[in-house]
Amino acid sequence: MTEVIRSAEALREKVAGWKRSGALVGVVPTMGALHDGHLSLARAARSQSDRVIVTIFVNPMQFNNPEDLKKYPRDEAHDLALLEADGVDVLFAPGPDEVYPEGFASKVSVTGVSGPMEGAHRPGHFDGVATVVTKLFGMTQAGRAFFGEKDWQQLQVVRRLVRDLNIPVHVIGCPTKRETDGLAMSSRNVRLSAAERAIAPALHRAMQDAARAIRDGAPVKAALDAAQGAIIRAGFATVEYLDLRDAETLEPLQDLRAPARLLVAAVLGDVRLIDNIAV
Ligand code: PAJ
Repeated sequence: MTEVIRSAEALREKVAGWKRSGALVGVVPTMGALHDGHLSLARAARSQSDRVIVTIFVNPMQFNNPEDLKKYPRDEAHDLALLEADGVDVLFAPGPDEVYPEGFASKVSVTGVSGPMEGAHRPGHFDGVATVVTKLFGMTQAGRAFFGEKDWQQLQVVRRLVRDLNIPVHVIGCPTKRETDGLAMSSRNVRLSAAERAIAPALHRAMQDAARAIRDGAPVKAALDAAQGAIIRAGFATVEYLDLRDAETLEPLQDLRAPARLLVAAVLGDVRLIDNIAV
């Protein structure tokens, strides 16, 4: 049975009990509308911890666009059934007032890695992520936390903040789960029309082609321009960024120096998709 807990107080008691018996606690922070990508993190947590908490909180502070927040898919009953099936111990699903009570006035801001790409296109987004993740670490007291490589920049932001603030949690990055046609799984994919869904895998294909070209020695700019052209020709409205960057610092790279990462955000219809791969 997966127990649903909504208050930080009740969660603290539950975790204190686990820790008294020496259990290693793993947490998987999510915003719900769970898919196999999220569940792969829950399974990693299951195999690498004694007790597993999955959190579901659609964090208003990280949405720079109110429409996106309103349209964000929510289905807690279905999510709970999936977590039950994967043997998750606790679903922590606090309401907004539990996370941001009257008078809440603090903010965690990570500079550097938060600046480019998602940070530039979604002002305030990573402050919201860093703040809520710090709070979730405090509320869950977990020793291990599992994040997807799907959100590569977010993973680097979380790693940085854990190091900078001496948070006693071990951050574990897990590979991106994809549909069979290569599209990275995302809660936002359900908002694609059938026609858009057919176009969407072109994003990953263009990334793979660019990564291969760069590895084979093509000039980085030419490879990125070709990929951008392919994404637009496939039917995407815009490419917000398509960059080759140092995988950890996220500094831009003009030529291939390992470890490097190719990262993209592009808009299809009114859905914004992000993806990234190793080069
Ligand atoms: P959300 O988008 O729900 O993602 C929750 C976790 O699942 C993140 O670590 C994300 O990288 C991972 N994930 C999403 N799609 C994935 C895929 N296809 N394969 C592998 N992992 C995947 O990211 C957030 O929520 C929020 O910003 C959060 C960290 C919960 C803070 O609010």
